[in-house]
Amino acid sequence: MVSESGNSGERLRDAAFAAMENAYAPYSRFRVGAAIQAAGGEIVAGCNVENAAYGEALCAERVAVAAAVAQGLTTFEEIAIASESDEPSPPCGSCRQTMSEFAPDLLIHSYGRNGKQATWHLSELLPEAFALNHLRGRT
Ligand code: THU
Repeated sequence: MVSESGNSGERLRDAAFAAMENAYAPYSRFRVGAAIQAAGGEIVAGCNVENAAYGEALCAERVAVAAAVAQGLTTFEEIAIASESDEPSPPCGSCRQTMSEFAPDLLIHSYGRNGKQATWHLSELLPEAFALNHLRGRT
């Protein structure tokens, strides 16, 4: 963990909490919002989107990444995650892998419902990430 205090950017945090309000989570009742900042400063948000077929649930982080990519943004610097947990919630393994595709050392700020913050570098949450160079058999 990089730090548990300080503020990575109020705009990014606020965008994550705003997206959390739009979460569709009637099954888990665990609402999550995410806001990712692209290299040009653009902020793109996502929320979790659940489904009656539980396994089809989409995580907030991957929704944000996919929405950004759909806008032509593929270079990212930071992401903020907001949830209703007391403790800052770390991204799940699938989201780590998806974020790693575009930003292997992404700065991740996570906020609990009372504002408690945790910050990590993606590389510490997902060391030895599988990536394109492995797919191609290169070192
Ligand atoms: N969830 C996220 O949105 N992001 C994560 O990194 C972990 C889990 C969502 C998926 C599901 O809708 C709910 O939280 C409970 O797992």
